Amino acid sequence: MQWRSTLAAVLGLTLAASATSAAVAQEAQRHGPKQTVIGQPKTEHGCARIEKSLPALKDWPKVESQLKGDRKDEARIKAILKDMTLAEKVGQMTQPEIAAITAEDVKTYGFGSVLNGGGSFPGGNKRATPQDWLALADAYFEASKQSRTKIPVIWGIDAVHGNNNVFGSTVFPHNIGLGAAHDPCLVRDISAATAEQIRATGQDWAFAPTLAVVEDDRWGRTYEGFSEDPRITRAYGYEAVKGLQDNAKKRIGEDGVIATAKHFLGDGGTIGGKDQGVNPSSEQKMINVHGQGYYGALAAGAQTVMISFNSWTNDVINEGKVHGSKYVQTGILKEKMGFDGLLVSDWNGIGQVTGCTNSSCAQAINAGMDIIMVPNDWKAFISNTIAQVEAGEISMARIDDAVTRILRVKLRAGVFEAPKPSLREHAGEQKALLHKELAREAVRESAVLLKNNKRVLPLSKRSKVLVVGKSADNISNQTGGWTLSWQGTGNTNADFPNATSILKGIQDTLGAANVTFAETADGVDPAQFDAVIAVIGETPYAEGVGDLGKRSFEAARLQPQDLAVLDKVSGKGKPVITVYVGGRALHMNKELNRSDAFVAAWLPGTEGQGIADLLIKGRHNGFSGKLSYSWPAEACPALPGEPAKKPLFQLGYGLRDWQTGNVGTLDETSPGALCSGGGGGTATDDLEIFNRTDVAPYQSMIGSAENWGGTAVGPDGQASHAEINVVQSDVNVQQDALKTTWTGTGPAQVYLQSPAPSDLRGYGNANAAIQFDVIVHQAPANRTVISTHCVYPCLAEIDATQAFRNLPIGQKATVKVPVSCFTDKGLDLELVNTPFLVYTDGAFQASFANVRWVPKAGADPDVVPCA
Ligand code: BGC
Ligand code: BGC
Repeated sequence: MQWRSTLAAVLGLTLAASATSAAVAQEAQRHGPKQTVIGQPKTEHGCARIEKSLPALKDWPKVESQLKGDRKDEARIKAILKDMTLAEKVGQMTQPEIAAITAEDVKTYGFGSVLNGGGSFPGGNKRATPQDWLALADAYFEASKQSRTKIPVIWGIDAVHGNNNVFGSTVFPHNIGLGAAHDPCLVRDISAATAEQIRATGQDWAFAPTLAVVEDDRWGRTYEGFSEDPRITRAYGYEAVKGLQDNAKKRIGEDGVIATAKHFLGDGGTIGGKDQGVNPSSEQKMINVHGQGYYGALAAGAQTVMISFNSWTNDVINEGKVHGSKYVQTGILKEKMGFDGLLVSDWNGIGQVTGCTNSSCAQAINAGMDIIMVPNDWKAFISNTIAQVEAGEISMARIDDAVTRILRVKLRAGVFEAPKPSLREHAGEQKALLHKELAREAVRESAVLLKNNKRVLPLSKRSKVLVVGKSADNISNQTGGWTLSWQGTGNTNADFPNATSILKGIQDTLGAANVTFAETADGVDPAQFDAVIAVIGETPYAEGVGDLGKRSFEAARLQPQDLAVLDKVSGKGKPVITVYVGGRALHMNKELNRSDAFVAAWLPGTEGQGIADLLIKGRHNGFSGKLSYSWPAEACPALPGEPAKKPLFQLGYGLRDWQTGNVGTLDETSPGALCSGGGGGTATDDLEIFNRTDVAPYQSMIGSAENWGGTAVGPDGQASHAEINVVQSDVNVQQDALKTTWTGTGPAQVYLQSPAPSDLRGYGNANAAIQFDVIVHQAPANRTVISTHCVYPCLAEIDATQAFRNLPIGQKATVKVPVSCFTDKGLDLELVNTPFLVYTDGAFQASFANVRWVPKAGADPDVVPCA
């Protein structure tokens, strides 16, 4: 977030507006000075060194890979290619998802590769064993060997913090934590361990490392990036690839897998931290900031690069979605940087290119894409692409270049000579799946001590402690997104048989008898203990679901229960040690003020013991982690055009060992839930309230006589009273809706509420509508209202009975109600805490999805009338 100040100093550069267009850069390339060549990095302790400064580059450098080409390979590729039909070539370029194909399809269509998406397993079984994974890998491999060309298929998997899709596998800290370790050798070791884990289950290819240089922590993928500092990303990119690919110089050996440098180009620099958004960087900034990780990864021999969902567009550059950009894919990567491996598209990424669909995109292939990730629409993609070649829209030379690269990578990976996956090195090995000591070490290295007033840490080995907080005994919160499921949601501790929660680690260290656990801190007296350890923070998310948008860094994803817990234990005469578990630096002044010591543990993974090692004096040294992301001093980031705000804790901050670090009382003024869009101005962006899941600070709840105070809908999407219940259902996509059943036994309501009211006057000024998608399963028997609250009993409602009765049963519809209907009836827009509520007392059943306030939609012709 703060890269402008830190990085400009680092590079000795002014990275301001001076954008060079692609054309200008090409011009400079033809006539300009000799191209810079980047080779192997300088080392320290045997690993790539994190440089003090990186020389400013004027143009894209050529990167010399340590994995060198082989003339015999090239001759062999030519021979294979000559014998292939067009359909077989397109098959090599096609990458379907395992749930959408059979082994027979692998043989028939000759897919070059397959993938499993996050949360997709053999047989759809989350608890699939290594043998289940291997059996499927064998089936695909053998099917490919029975195809006419006999080219072996390869399988790619999102092993982004260990082999995180596999039940029982050790999961390492997410990259944000590894960045804080400032230890390239650790990254090499974890990547090497991850390669073994992948071999244990029979895959060939890791969709890692992510090399995003993250400029705005509102991005939901912040934790996937190592740092906001490209010096770290570059050194780590090098070691991550070396570790995954077994330090390959000619062939990837028996301990390695194929690595992926992703997502090229500029994923971490989108406006407002919007996932898949627009990166407006100048070309100089792309070269010197977002490109840096690739210089490391490609020098180490990365064989594949995944193209990013983002666009690259500003006043002078108009590449649009980089999935369709020939300059990015061919001009920069293949030509200037000299990359001879393959480019793979992201999940249905081609469908986002203007004029393309998920199953058809000549532009992406012409731009340089070699493998197309088409999870479901592979059949249509194959026939469309064949037709496009036959019609001359894609040249045969381009197809041959793609297949040449695919075959080259396969030869270098050694799969032509390899036996079936279950017979390979590490296959099925339990010890290859478990790397607990290494992961525990990584947890210790990655945690950052931000505050240690009066040196309350370390605790003595004889302490009696009270442990509180929702994340103390919650491995799902500890592991975050991309763990057993795509979002990391829907998992319980029972899904992690080999893991240790932070609580368990503390119990094992102090003895269970000396540890009392009270999640909500109710019914316990802190004064009875030597210290309180509170473990709080974010709950799991991945990709765009984790974007903050307009939400502040305070209201972001911290739940009110966290602060409530701290309020119950602080000021009781006993030191409070807070451990924050989460995927980004947040504005936590209130939490810091209520803590004597404060540890940022990031998303540590399955080895919670590493945290106990740091809190309690024992055989380990104290803290060594230093922030790889600056920590915000304010809840709202700078507005576009404003200078970056000064951080509370700078990049590189972190108390060493158990050094005292007194932090005074911090300012607790708060902008509320939203940073802009509220207030007296005019809102321009949607206020998302429920989008596949609750959008913080809003929480979905049900209320009835059983508990009018409200029962929260759990992470499993369920809640139940006698009068009303909620389960997950599908409206637009899988499990994106709250299917609500009013049983007709009494009045009841479903609603979304935030703990603190927000000023939403901007939505009144923008003539917004409250909008949601709905499937009515059973029309309402009695009067039904849509309501909004300005902190009950301040409220306004409209009668929506007829509107719901008019909707076709079982079909999706979008309902819009002008916000003015509510303000006319007394809604105080300055204090809205419940922006959506449905209430009735008769039987009614409907699925609600995608609930939001949409500027200008109050004027749409299809709004529900107020009366
Ligand atoms: C993500 C990639 C990931 C791919 C396959 C995409 O949505 O952006 O990082 O590798 O899915 O799961
Ligand atoms: C898949 C992920 C993928 C995402 C993209 C999910 O359904 O499981 O792997 O990254 O879709 O939107």
